[in-house]
Amino acid sequence: MSLSPIDRAKVVAARRAVDFIEDGMKVGLGTGSTAAFMVRRLGEVVREEGLRVTAVPTSTRTAELAAELGIPLTTLDEAGWLDVTIDGADEFDGALNLVKGGGGALLREKIVATASDRMIVIADAAKEVGMLGAFDLPVEVIPFGMQATRTLIEEVLAGQDVMGRAITLRMAGERPFVTDEGNHIFDLSLARIGNPGSLALMLNQIPGVVENGLFIDICDTVVIGHADGRVELRDLDAGTVSIERSDLGEGDNIFADL
Ligand code: 5RP
Repeated sequence: MSLSPIDRAKVVAARRAVDFIEDGMKVGLGTGSTAAFMVRRLGEVVREEGLRVTAVPTSTRTAELAAELGIPLTTLDEAGWLDVTIDGADEFDGALNLVKGGGGALLREKIVATASDRMIVIADAAKEVGMLGAFDLPVEVIPFGMQATRTLIEEVLAGQDVMGRAITLRMAGERPFVTDEGNHIFDLSLARIGNPGSLALMLNQIPGVVENGLFIDICDTVVIGHADGRVELRDLDAGTVSIERSDLGEGDNIFADL
């Protein structure tokens, strides 16, 4: 199967990240197209190499895929605490702060990532930004009193270092999109987020806001894939950056099962 350059980049990042999973680990499985490549690779390693893991999915979609692939699943409550969570992101900055929730799973993703010793983000290089905000910031809200919540979000934005302030209710066809937790999502077009930590705190002060898509000081490591097979590993805690190369010739079949 031939993949687009972006998908090739996602695949190499996803495959490299699976190498961080050790036998016996409890692993959080992210949501989205990059995370799906990672789940597929993990399924392969579980089946073919006998790696033993217990996994906690961050969405119904990921749970279904992992179950199909024979990855043993449990709940976060059963697992208690996880060794590592591997997930995608919509954007990441130099401090590895993230915008997530493009796929609508930000709430479970944040709960699972913060209940893990380590969060590893997998991304194609285009997801890196100097300043967060080009990607619309998802904010999960409870359906009750949603318009009042929207007004309060507007008030918060008026006091923040952001460039745009448009708020859109995410739709799924004719109806508002519904998250796995039965909530809705407002997407905030901010263009720039000057102080992500402050914005994240202020949004979460609003009673109708369940969670926002800013992941501040949660991610430790990013695995950045490039379409030519290069993979960059940045580890904030260790303070290391390294570049590796997957040997992806035209005839290479690492994408064959996708
Ligand atoms: C889902 C997410 C995803 O990780 C994010 O949207 C990235 O997705 P993709 O890997 O498809 O680009 O936060 O809620």
